[in-house]
Amino acid sequence: MVISTRGVERLRSGHPWVYRSDVRSAQAEAGAIVRVTDERGRFHGRAFYSAQSQIAVRLLTRENVPVDRAFFTERLRRAAAYRETAVENTDAYRLVHGEADLLPSIVIDRYGDYLAVQTLSQASEKQKNLIVEILVEQFSPKGILERNDPKVRLLEGLPQSVSVLHGDVPVEILAKENGITFVYDLAKGQKTGSFLDQRENHWAARRYASGEVLDCFSYQGGFALTVAAECEHVEGIDMGAAAVQAARRNQDLNSIPNVTFREGNAFDVLKEYDEVGRRFQMVILDPPAFAKNRDSLEAATRGYKEINLRALKILAPGGYLITCSCSYHLSEALFLQLIAEAANDAKKNVVVAERRTQAQDHPILLTMPETHYLKALILKVIE
Ligand SMILES: C[S@@+](CC[C@H](N)C(=O)[O-])C[C@H]1O[C@@H](n2cnc3c(N)ncnc32)[C@H](O)[C@@H]1O
Repeated sequence: MVISTRGVERLRSGHPWVYRSDVRSAQAEAGAIVRVTDERGRFHGRAFYSAQSQIAVRLLTRENVPVDRAFFTERLRRAAAYRETAVENTDAYRLVHGEADLLPSIVIDRYGDYLAVQTLSQASEKQKNLIVEILVEQFSPKGILERNDPKVRLLEGLPQSVSVLHGDVPVEILAKENGITFVYDLAKGQKTGSFLDQRENHWAARRYASGEVLDCFSYQGGFALTVAAECEHVEGIDMGAAAVQAARRNQDLNSIPNVTFREGNAFDVLKEYDEVGRRFQMVILDPPAFAKNRDSLEAATRGYKEINLRALKILAPGGYLITCSCSYHLSEALFLQLIAEAANDAKKNVVVAERRTQAQDHPILLTMPETHYLKALILKVIE
């Protein structure tokens, strides 16, 4: 695999991807593990090769070492060892976060005794059976499900598929986040079953919560159920009927009395509460990614601004806004700017109590901006 000078510079900058336009010659099979060299034949590493997607090369190692069973075993072992310090009071977490664990295009989430696996490129797909064998050997899961239905698989010419790869995977799995029991549906839940990346933010929100809380986009109740112990009442709103059902189920499982989950469109509910003058001590906004790509950034910015403006208006003085964006394309700087504009429009003075991101089990690879996608701000209305 020969890459251009620009491709070499990219790898040297620490970014593990080389785009197709920087591939000079590729005499390799689709999904092969290749030796990467420059036009003078100098070695730059070993990588996953994709014959179809724009991301042609995903670097595995800069070293000239065999990429074999022992290699993948060591990478998986290191990923698991990192979680031993990064994860607390929780048995549902991300075990492998792709490039940031030096296992490009591979995602593995643990839910108690079960694992959900995603292989999102031609080459990781080819290694899937080996990865599953190593997972069984190293972690003895009761079941492994492939949750290979993300659309990015289509860019690789791979089919979308959800199936059991090892053992049995029940429809409902119980596991704990921050000591709270949640029910997970690995095959049909969003992502691989949950928004594990928000776990630390659920816990952080608890510190500021009191009185009446509104959790918009509540999914299975991650924020609502975690903050409930500190509040008089929490209302959780989600558009998905299955999400609301699961949230109620989680509420029952943990015997949490002071939360009401209901189906609704957060845009409408926020507007209605603003119009009737309802007030909350905390509003939580964790919408789906409004900006899926750069082209939708402008429309997304309007959407984020609208919900943040409404939320700020219905906050009581001294109240807290927890506001999130999981759109990689919306930078933290832009997010702060649009919220500043919303605060100004709402005539509120707002300070930043905390600038947060995804949980530590979703590490950010410093040289790969794409791995830093989640923004979570904790803001206080001071007047
Ligand atoms: C990022 S997830 C929320 C995750 C959740 N806060 C957690 O921490 O687990 C976004 C949720 O918003 C819901 N949703 C999308 N559009 C909505 C809307 N207009 N109103 C209410 N819920 C919506 C989706 O069903 C999804 O459950």
